[in-house]
Amino acid sequence: MVNIILLGPPGAGKGTQAKRLVDERDMVQLSTGDMLRAARSSGTEMGKRVAAVMDRGNLVTDDIVIGLIEEQLVHPHGGGFIFDGFPRTLKQADALGDLMARIGQNIDVVLEIRVDDEALKHRIVGRYTCGTCGAVYHDENHPTRVPGVCDNCGGTTMKRRADDTEEALKTRMLAYYRDTSPLIGYYYAKGKLATVDGLAEMDTVAAAIAKVLDRT
Ligand code: AP5
Repeated sequence: MVNIILLGPPGAGKGTQAKRLVDERDMVQLSTGDMLRAARSSGTEMGKRVAAVMDRGNLVTDDIVIGLIEEQLVHPHGGGFIFDGFPRTLKQADALGDLMARIGQNIDVVLEIRVDDEALKHRIVGRYTCGTCGAVYHDENHPTRVPGVCDNCGGTTMKRRADDTEEALKTRMLAYYRDTSPLIGYYYAKGKLATVDGLAEMDTVAAAIAKVLDRT
């Protein structure tokens, strides 16, 4: 069993690779972005509070996201956890270390998916997902085989995210460089960092990740 963090800017491919690991290695994906989007669409008080913050591309407060992760860690999973989009600040990283210690586990490896900013803009504005199963697609890089029909579940409702605009992406990138990129040094110093080239084809990125996990 391995517990991993997928670290990278918006559009790096964290969600895409997490879903493959879930299918191939029976791991559990814990995406704070997905949890926050679920909260907002279920209309909870917390969901209403975070909606505007997310749409503008800003980070939600540490306490909210740490609470969301804490709720998920009560049942350790044999295949291991994939933390996708969490932690995003040094405070969240410290909290995750404490939460994992509390359940007698730790983070085995932190995979930094490295990409350049130009590719991100193209990926983000072209992204859409299946409204039924959450499979991730792209207008050009990875369209559905039949237009409008999910390859994975046959669903026909495709969604685009409110924060997938050039304007919100600028704020998201700023948040990444300011608050999240220090985690690269944080985990490097702990001897847990591995970097993969996120500009490669999706299968090549998956193979690079598999190689790291197989030697962990
Ligand atoms: P979140 O949902 O986590 O979004 P993000 O980090 O901005 O990442 P994305 O989901 O945009 O990208 P990804 O890396 O998963 O890329 P994907 O695989 O989809 O967070 C959203 C918001 O929630 C935040 O802005 C914040 O407000 C809030 N939030 C969440 N967590 C928080 C936290 N911990 N603390 C505070 N606030 C938090 O790929 C993108 C596209 O590229 C797809 O179309 C895909 O098909 C394509 N693609 C993927 N890989 C490749 C490849 N190798 N080659 C070509 N195309 C590719």
